[in-house]
Amino acid sequence: MKKVLKWAGIILGLMLLCLAGTVLYLNSAAKSRLDKKYEVQPKPIVIPSDSASIATGKQWVDVLCRGCHGINLAGTKFFDVPALGLICASNITPGGVAKNYTNLDWDRALRHGVGQDGRPLLIMPSENFKYMSDEHIGQVIAYLKTVAPVEQTWEPRRTTLFCNLIFQLGAFDKLNVEKIDHTSPSHSAPKRGATVEYGNYLVRINGCRVCHGEQLNGGKPPEPDAPLGPNLTPGGSLAQWDAPGFVHTMRTGTTPFGKELNVFMPWKEMNHYDDDQLQAIYAYLMSLPKLEMAEIKK
Ligand code: HEC
Ligand code: HEC
Repeated sequence: MKKVLKWAGIILGLMLLCLAGTVLYLNSAAKSRLDKKYEVQPKPIVIPSDSASIATGKQWVDVLCRGCHGINLAGTKFFDVPALGLICASNITPGGVAKNYTNLDWDRALRHGVGQDGRPLLIMPSENFKYMSDEHIGQVIAYLKTVAPVEQTWEPRRTTLFCNLIFQLGAFDKLNVEKIDHTSPSHSAPKRGATVEYGNYLVRINGCRVCHGEQLNGGKPPEPDAPLGPNLTPGGSLAQWDAPGFVHTMRTGTTPFGKELNVFMPWKEMNHYDDDQLQAIYAYLMSLPKLEMAEIKK
């Protein structure tokens, strides 16, 4: 009997040791991904200084940035869950992290997902912004240099041991920086107009696929408590809306069938687009193959 107990003890001890070893290994593998220093060198682009370009830059920022970085761009406590960690969206006014930014630093963050210090930026959707043309990124940077400085600092990001473990086990998507091809040349933008091509461009840079699925026929948003992103192809309800109905939905948050969209759908941001831009998005969505709603694992 004593012998059996002894062996049971040894086996249990070995198992615990293995478990501890696995935890330590996963934690350090996650940390080395999160703390990795990336050395990407964006190519210099022209930053315009005329008022029309700055106004266009403001419109991009209204749609693409304020939802996370705050109305005054001084940042927000974006993610704060004690079990997982804390990630703040940075203060990107001239009073914050961008104080000593060069144009290349801006582009490094925007289209590569890498901070001035070389760290991979979490949550910041650079895998969508990488599709923005040099001209449009130039407009964004031109505008950001003109915004009022705000003195506001945020705690550095931190992730818990538990967060690191499930991250390494694949509970979240890959890091944006890991998804981007940092050597590919920059993309061009189609001419502005209510066209399918321009709509395709806007859908890409806005990351509609993150929540509505790779084929836009339905998807699961990253926020755990969000409802499913509906089917936006002609197989969904949009086919019966027509373009004015789509524009009206993005202006009011209420669909032509009287459904109020909940907060997870960023219609308030899209409301900053002009009619021709929203019409372009609708034209693109209606040009897609008619698909059934995707089957989505809960
Ligand atoms: C979905 C939310 C989200 C959106 C949209 C977003 N950002 Fe960010 N951004 C973040 C978060 C969160 C961080 C901090 C990441 C970190 O520290 O790992 C960040 C970091 C940055 C940084 C790096 C700052 C630093 O601390 O080094 C810059 C620059 C930046 N964002 C600019 C922008 C601009 C410009 C836009 C719009 C074109 C934008 N962001 C849109 C969430 C977002
Ligand atoms: C962060 C996630 C997220 C992103 C990004 C997003 N959506 Fe949505 N969207 C949703 C969710 C969730 C709903 C469902 C809202 C509800 O049920 O109230 C929705 C609903 C919609 C609807 C209403 C569809 C219907 O049948 O009622 C349209 C149209 C739409 N989104 C278009 C877009 C477009 C176009 C983009 C990109 C420019 C986009 N969305 C980006 C999450 C998102």
